[in-house]
Amino acid sequence: MSSSCTTSFELIDLHPAKADVVAAVRQGLQRRPRQLPAWLLYDQKGSELFDAITKQPEYSLTRTEQALLTSKGSAMANNLPAGCLLVEFGAGSAEKVSPLLDAMDDPAYLAIDISAEHLVKSGKRLQQRHPSTPMLGLCADYSQPLELPLPSQMLRRPRVGFFPGSSLGNFCPSEAITFLTRLRQLLGPEGMLLIGIDQPRDSALLEAAYDDAAGISAAFALNLLDRLQRDLGAKLNMDGFSYQARWDEAHSRIAMSLTAKGEQQLIVAGMESCFAPGEELITEYSYKFSPKAFLTLASRAGWQKRHRWSDNREHFSIHLLEPCDGEQTELYQSS
Ligand code: AVJ
Repeated sequence: MSSSCTTSFELIDLHPAKADVVAAVRQGLQRRPRQLPAWLLYDQKGSELFDAITKQPEYSLTRTEQALLTSKGSAMANNLPAGCLLVEFGAGSAEKVSPLLDAMDDPAYLAIDISAEHLVKSGKRLQQRHPSTPMLGLCADYSQPLELPLPSQMLRRPRVGFFPGSSLGNFCPSEAITFLTRLRQLLGPEGMLLIGIDQPRDSALLEAAYDDAAGISAAFALNLLDRLQRDLGAKLNMDGFSYQARWDEAHSRIAMSLTAKGEQQLIVAGMESCFAPGEELITEYSYKFSPKAFLTLASRAGWQKRHRWSDNREHFSIHLLEPCDGEQTELYQSS
C-alpha cells in the first residue's frame, strides 16, 4: 500500500479555541506570581524565534541532543518494537526524529505540536526525507488530556513516545508526574518513552543559554506580549517590560520572566492587570534533572529505566523508559 510516494502531509487541527486562549491568559494573570502557560509562547512567530534560539552559541542543548540522536540512533532503534508508531510531543521543526526514523524497522510517525503552520511546514519537509514512512500531524495542546485520532493503519501499531528537548522541564514536578502518568495510558500497556532531559550544571552557563547575547531569548519571551496584542487585542506598553533568566538552585530550574519597569497596566482577556514596579510575569520555567532525580520522578508515574544515553560532559541525557515491573496491566484493569 505504501508503493506510491507521497509528499503531502495531513494535519488534524485541534488547536485550543480563542475562548480557551483567553481563559488561559485570564487564569495566568490571576496567579501570584503571574505566570502564563508555556504553550502560549509558540505562535508562528514564537516557533520561528525558538528555532533561532536553538542555533545560538550559548544554547548547546539542541546540538548536544542532536549529536546523541545521530550517534546513538541505531542503538535506540534496536530497543524499539518493529512497526511501531513514534509519537512526538512538541515536534516543532521536526528535525530530531530523522536519525531515528532512518534506523527504525517499518516505523510510522505522529507529530504533535501547538503551532499548526509550523507543523505543516516541518511535516512536509520530513515526509520528503522519509517518503515511505506513514506520517500524520496533530495540532494540539499536549499538556491537556488528549485522544489520538488515528487512522486504522496507525491504530494497530505498538506506540513509542518521543519527547525530546527537555520540554518536560516546562512542567513543574507535580504537573510532570501527571503528564508522564497520562502518557502511560496514551501509549498503551507495552508503550515505551524516549525522552530528552537537560541536567543541572554551571549556573552562569545555564543563565547565558537562556539569555543569549544576540537577544533572541529575550525576543522570544517578549513575543508573548506581542501575541497578546495581535491575537487578543491587548493594550500594554511593550517597552515597559524587560526580560530576565535566572537559575533557581532550590528548585533546580531556570525562571524566565518579564519584569515591569515601573508601574504597568495590561488590559486583556476582559480584565485590567496592574503590575507594581519590578513585578514579574513568569513566561516559563525550565527545570533541570539529574538522571537520578528524573528516574525518581518517572517512577512515580509508573515508568522505569530501560536505557540511558548521554554526552561525555554529562550535560544531557536521553532516557528510554518502559512500564515499571508488575505495573503493565494494573493501570488498565482499573479503567
Ligand atoms: C523547549 C522547553 C525545552 O527550556 O530549554 C529555551 C524552551 N525557552 N529558551 C528550554 C526555551 C527559552 C526550551 N524547551
